[in-house]
Amino acid sequence: MPTYLLVDPAHYEVSYAINPWMKPGTWSEHPERHLAEARTAFSSLKRALREAGGDIETAPGVPGLPDMVFPANGGIVFDRKALVASFRHPQRQGEEAAFRAVFQGMRDRGLLDEVIDLPQGMFQEGAGDCIWDRTRSLAWTGFGPRSAAGAPDHIARVFDIDIVRLELATEQFYHLDTCFCVLPHGEVFFYPPAFTREGVSLIRDVVSADRLMEASAEDAARFCVNAVAVDRTIVMAEPTQRLKDRFAERGYMVKEVGLAPFILSGGGAYCMTLRMDLVTRGTDHDTD
Ligand code: ARG
Repeated sequence: MPTYLLVDPAHYEVSYAINPWMKPGTWSEHPERHLAEARTAFSSLKRALREAGGDIETAPGVPGLPDMVFPANGGIVFDRKALVASFRHPQRQGEEAAFRAVFQGMRDRGLLDEVIDLPQGMFQEGAGDCIWDRTRSLAWTGFGPRSAAGAPDHIARVFDIDIVRLELATEQFYHLDTCFCVLPHGEVFFYPPAFTREGVSLIRDVVSADRLMEASAEDAARFCVNAVAVDRTIVMAEPTQRLKDRFAERGYMVKEVGLAPFILSGGGAYCMTLRMDLVTRGTDHDTD
């Protein structure tokens, strides 16, 4: 069963802006109301993931570290090994120790074997910039706005896996998970303008045309590419009917969750989760 780490939003807020979606001014007009909505949105996401067949581990947040609600950025977990993130912006650097402690707690409970740190000075923002593709047995890695250009090769060595390096070309789509989503049956849903020309041609080289789905600017702005797929169910922020229909044609059912308070920080469903149970070798390709 897929297991997801989520972080409780008790200390969530939008109090700074490190990406173009973040609106601290909007948040501070009605902080209590936004927090109440965030709690509701968080519960709906949890319920949707459970209904889709996921298992949930919830960690508490830490006061002063509002973006901990995006655990996809806290690290990369493959084969029971956690590689702790190193954040580009000082506003998030306190999360490194916090996520390290969460992973160490999981190791103490027997859920993980190893907790590893990145080399000093190498920025890497976790699974937000490293997406496992079980169909192709490789990880798609993003770099540029947040993760360093050298991070992908380091990830390949630490986990002994194949990777594809994709440079992110815009500030809006600053993590790979905002513009790239791998579905369990091999389709790749992505937003081409977020990538360099070279990145787009790399994607087209690795994924056959019949399995590539392009997101529209609206899909991307609604954070619908930032989705979590469990077998035939895709959990995402509110999509257009057109997008739901496109997925239905390919045999996927979209479960939509209202995530507006988190979109106000530039995040959606995928980055509010961290998959804990991914295995890079000897996986059964017919089950998730
Ligand atoms: N406010 C957070 C940041 O800018 C949002 C992170 C969303 N995470 C993601 N993997 N897309 O870092």
